[in-house]
Amino acid sequence: MTIQGQSNTSTKIQSMHESSKGSLVFVGTGLQLAGQISVLSRSYIENADRVFSIVPDAFAEEWLISLNPNHTSLQSYYAQADEVKNRRHTYKQMVEAMLVAVRKGEQVVCALYGHPGVFACVSHLAIAQARTEGFDSYMEPGISAEACLWADLGIDPGQCGHQSFEATQFLLYQHRPDPSTHLLLWQIALAGDHTLTQFSTTSDRLQVLVDLLSQWYPLDHEVVIYEAANLPLQQPRIERLALKALPQARLTVISTLLIPPSQALKLNEIVLAKLGISALELG
Ligand SMILES: C[S@@+](CC[C@H](N)C(=O)[O-])C[C@H]1O[C@@H](n2cnc3c(N)ncnc32)[C@H](O)[C@@H]1O
Repeated sequence: MTIQGQSNTSTKIQSMHESSKGSLVFVGTGLQLAGQISVLSRSYIENADRVFSIVPDAFAEEWLISLNPNHTSLQSYYAQADEVKNRRHTYKQMVEAMLVAVRKGEQVVCALYGHPGVFACVSHLAIAQARTEGFDSYMEPGISAEACLWADLGIDPGQCGHQSFEATQFLLYQHRPDPSTHLLLWQIALAGDHTLTQFSTTSDRLQVLVDLLSQWYPLDHEVVIYEAANLPLQQPRIERLALKALPQARLTVISTLLIPPSQALKLNEIVLAKLGISALELG
């Protein structure tokens, strides 16, 4: 039996190799070691001239090396030890490292954990640069932290909708959460750091976030700190706490904050009237 994915895979990978020009493809490895990658993305890695990566740990790097030994981790571009380095600079260096290989005519694949284009700017920057220079460059989707969260918490975000924000952007800009939907705050452990040099936040900054959120959510409202498992034998971290306890919570660079709805969905009476629908028909 030939599944559609397999024939698409071989066509795309073949065209990658038919070109004498370099190319750059981003793939997502999912969150959990080896098991959450698509057939197509894995084939890209196996067939690449060179693989770059940002993955959660040494196990994931070893697994990538087993698929393709021509592997370079991009982790070394992040600030090391006590070094103070703006992550914008880090991302520029990562893009340049990949483009150097593409310009040599190599078929380059970059494997990023999760979905390569979700809350991940390196892929978007690199694809734009590669295309500006005339190279083929695109992205294959992956399983994001958010996809794992809905599965582990047994929530269908379609039931009442959801919103997602980067935590610092949520603090610094006038976003308006809808408390009848689920709210996800990514990079909660960095909330309030506008310098892009820190990998942690402070309880004072988290208190500012709690004060802001208290406009829409009661302080006793239950929120969830979520960390998907990166290894097959690990359990996800699902820690439930009151919103007001957030400043004292243990947060890590892989924590995502889920704020479930605090209010029921409200019918839009004006639209119902325009559509001639009675509220009773909606049960
Ligand atoms: C730079 S973003 C990368 C997201 C990634 N591209 C994805 O698709 O999941 C980093 C943020 O993703 C979330 N994240 C990463 N790993 C996670 C995990 N194991 N569990 C829950 N959230 C995670 C956290 O909010 C973290 O601060």
